[in-house]
Amino acid sequence: MAGFKTLDDIGAVSGRRVLVRVDLNVPVADGKVTDATRIERVAPTIAELSKKGAKVILLAHFGRPKDGPSAEFSLEPIARATADVLGRPVGFASDCVGDKAADAVAAMKDGDVLLFENTRFHKAEEKNEPAFTEQLAANGDIYVNDAFSAAHRAHASTEGLAHRLPAYAGRTMQAELDALEKGLGNPARPVVAIVGGAKVSSKIDLLMNLVKKVDALVIGGGMANTFLAARGTDVGKSLCEHDLAGTAKQIMIEAAEAGCAVILPADGVVAKEFKAGAPSETVAISDVPADGMILDVGAKTVQSVNDWIDRAATLVWNGPLGAFEIAPFDRATVAAAKHAAARTRQGKLVSVAGGGDTVAALNHAGVADDFTYVSTAGGAFLEWMEGKPLPGVEVLKR
Ligand code: 3PG
Ligand code: MG
Repeated sequence: MAGFKTLDDIGAVSGRRVLVRVDLNVPVADGKVTDATRIERVAPTIAELSKKGAKVILLAHFGRPKDGPSAEFSLEPIARATADVLGRPVGFASDCVGDKAADAVAAMKDGDVLLFENTRFHKAEEKNEPAFTEQLAANGDIYVNDAFSAAHRAHASTEGLAHRLPAYAGRTMQAELDALEKGLGNPARPVVAIVGGAKVSSKIDLLMNLVKKVDALVIGGGMANTFLAARGTDVGKSLCEHDLAGTAKQIMIEAAEAGCAVILPADGVVAKEFKAGAPSETVAISDVPADGMILDVGAKTVQSVNDWIDRAATLVWNGPLGAFEIAPFDRATVAAAKHAAARTRQGKLVSVAGGGDTVAALNHAGVADDFTYVSTAGGAFLEWMEGKPLPGVEVLKR
């Protein structure tokens, strides 16, 4: 891949200590990993390095510990989950620096895999302190970053180390950067973006950036209500950030100036309460009852979204169209996701999606595997969509 050094450039690694930054920040309930996707994503890099005889030392964070080491934020259970995914033993060292780390590394044989305890147990990690980076670097000859989803953090293990050791992008980082380049960097046109989710306030920068880059922007989810209200549509009791009317108008002005079509809902599925099986009806967007809440976009809107997907060569998707967690308000999201998946399977669409809710919605629709690329990144994917440079990626550039 142009622009980044990857494992193809790494040379002989047999017997060498390779520090691999991975994202093992996975959901855990009752001590069990409930979704191993992120572990599965980094498995190829680990397996490749191990097969080539490297001593593979994994660096990762887990959660946001505030006060040093604790059982709650320990990576130890995740070492076991990683071993299950890899189908091979994964050692564990109860610290990522100091004697415990050094002793564990000294005991490694070629091809072994070792996970260090949570890097965030040291405050210096998030501060990217050079002295701490130095301590981390003491256990490695080479650095590989395979954690795109943590690349928006300029931490010692995500950014600092790349200045200190020969640095390479791992296979997942490489795939991610490749997909993102196809999505917004240098995309086939027309490009359509679907942005949903609850609030405009969390996605202002993202929307401002997208209107300059894409040919059409579909706005769904709760945030569409803010745009509708700004335009003068009565949205009843719907979730709506009325104080952001000015921002919404500004985004629409910028879109018009950039020649980006903005597609807002033409109809909505409304209910009087937000709960499973609540009675609901589809109404034209101008006819939302005063006591009604828009919880999904209607069939007409889905048709127009699908028409835009048909016209698109590239689709970038972040955020569901409706309150997809509760039936029947998942209908529009599922229908559009299936349509995008079908176009992708036919080779007519490059589809890139990301963000926590989005991945859950695509899994719910059963089509995540059909998209060209689904990012497991949350914050990093958003910052990428906002057009911001990601420190962990910048530092890997040749
Ligand atoms: C994530 O879960 O999005 C990444 O692992 C980054 O975690 P953070 O938001 O705590 O930095
Ligand atoms: Mg996060």
